[in-house]
Amino acid sequence: MDYLQIKRVNSLNGNIKISGAKNASLPLIAMVILAKNSVSIKNLPHVADINTLLKLLSNLGAKCNREEDITTVDTSTLTQTKATYDIVKTMRASILVLGPILARFGHCEVSLPGGCAIGQRPVDLHLKALEQMGAVINIEAGYIHAMAPDGLKGCNIIFDKITVTGTANIVMAAALAEGVTTITNAAREPEVVQLCEILNANGVKIDGIGTAVLTIQGTDKKLIHIDEFSVIPDRIEAGTYLCAAAITRSELTLTDVNPKHLGAVLSKLQEMGSKFTTTEDTITIHPSDVIKAVKIVTQEYPAFPTDMQAQFMALATQAEGTSIIEERLFENRFMHVSELQRMGADISLNGNVATVNGKSKLSGTDVMATDLRASSALVLAGLVADGITNVHRIYHLDRGYDSLEKKLQNVGADIVRLKE
Ligand code: EPZ
Repeated sequence: MDYLQIKRVNSLNGNIKISGAKNASLPLIAMVILAKNSVSIKNLPHVADINTLLKLLSNLGAKCNREEDITTVDTSTLTQTKATYDIVKTMRASILVLGPILARFGHCEVSLPGGCAIGQRPVDLHLKALEQMGAVINIEAGYIHAMAPDGLKGCNIIFDKITVTGTANIVMAAALAEGVTTITNAAREPEVVQLCEILNANGVKIDGIGTAVLTIQGTDKKLIHIDEFSVIPDRIEAGTYLCAAAITRSELTLTDVNPKHLGAVLSKLQEMGSKFTTTEDTITIHPSDVIKAVKIVTQEYPAFPTDMQAQFMALATQAEGTSIIEERLFENRFMHVSELQRMGADISLNGNVATVNGKSKLSGTDVMATDLRASSALVLAGLVADGITNVHRIYHLDRGYDSLEKKLQNVGADIVRLKE
């Protein structure tokens, strides 16, 4: 297995190009199940999760051809409808094929994703909504067996909780359903917005895009033609590098980024002392010498994203004073705390609230990544820790960050990928 070895740097300097968004790419690849043509997708990030989903679609009979900056996916040859445990266990977002396969073929079997490091992460809301649309769903031997032999019917769905992939799944199911589906309490993340925008531009009429109430006019099982599109920039990757600049007090410029998707993150970094110069597709961060303590509560978009919580915790260890970080979306998303504590961070936990007393002197040591965003938090801590920090189990990191160590090396970080 690989690990990352990081040594303290005085500062970073230069530009980082942001890759396509992992969490936009996954539903957009699943969306191709609704298409009658071979679809070209630009700007897919080179990360493990994307490869996993492309492999899943290939296993089902689709043709996927990945080149440097354009990927073609043709599902006209897709004949299988079972997403097996061996793939789903490595990437829970495989659940995103359930809605489109069920809508197109009238039946689908998907392994239950099981829990993951950050929490139980059930899919009950996905299943309840599909049942409202007429699906018959049974759970047997760890698999979801979904049937809708007469096709899915549009209806009014109200999500008890805001669910990102749940919204994406139902939008895709509704795209081929008969009649109109409304989704109330829909997720408004930019990744869901792009899915709706592309469907709307390719024959599926969707109103309310970007709001909590979506109205989808289904095609009644008629497959759609999807023109080439490019995936939006990854706002969480961008936020992670902004934290790298803030924690090392470096001026960095991010390119190919959309500042509009980072409102809450930029606002929190400003509260902590950073200043910004932005254009339509760049962000330059001008960090302050003194990092101020902050209060963070993770909530659904456009509020502060849970996927940035771990990175801000690493940053808060370098702030003057006490920061409070409340995690409201996942019940176990503090696995990075014990590793940061081993590096010398002063963090105490009380349920879903972390109290971070800064400024702590961090010391490099061997640390273990436990989930995707926790991994990046440990890298950030390593950039300012004395001595050498070795981050192990970085297969977690490789799921969602495209060439992280190369991008950091290019701006002066002392970070290398080594073999255990
Ligand atoms: C998406 O996960 C993202 N993943 C996650 O990013 C992100 O943390 C999360 O949204 C929240 O923003 C992808 O888009 C592939 P949810 P998702 O359904 O859709 C509960 C990363 O680091 N819930 O919005 O699985 C759930 O337990 C990953 O890139 C139910 O109870 O999250 C959670 O508490 C990590 N029942 C809350 O809702 C359901 O049926 C939000 O989950 C579905 C969700």
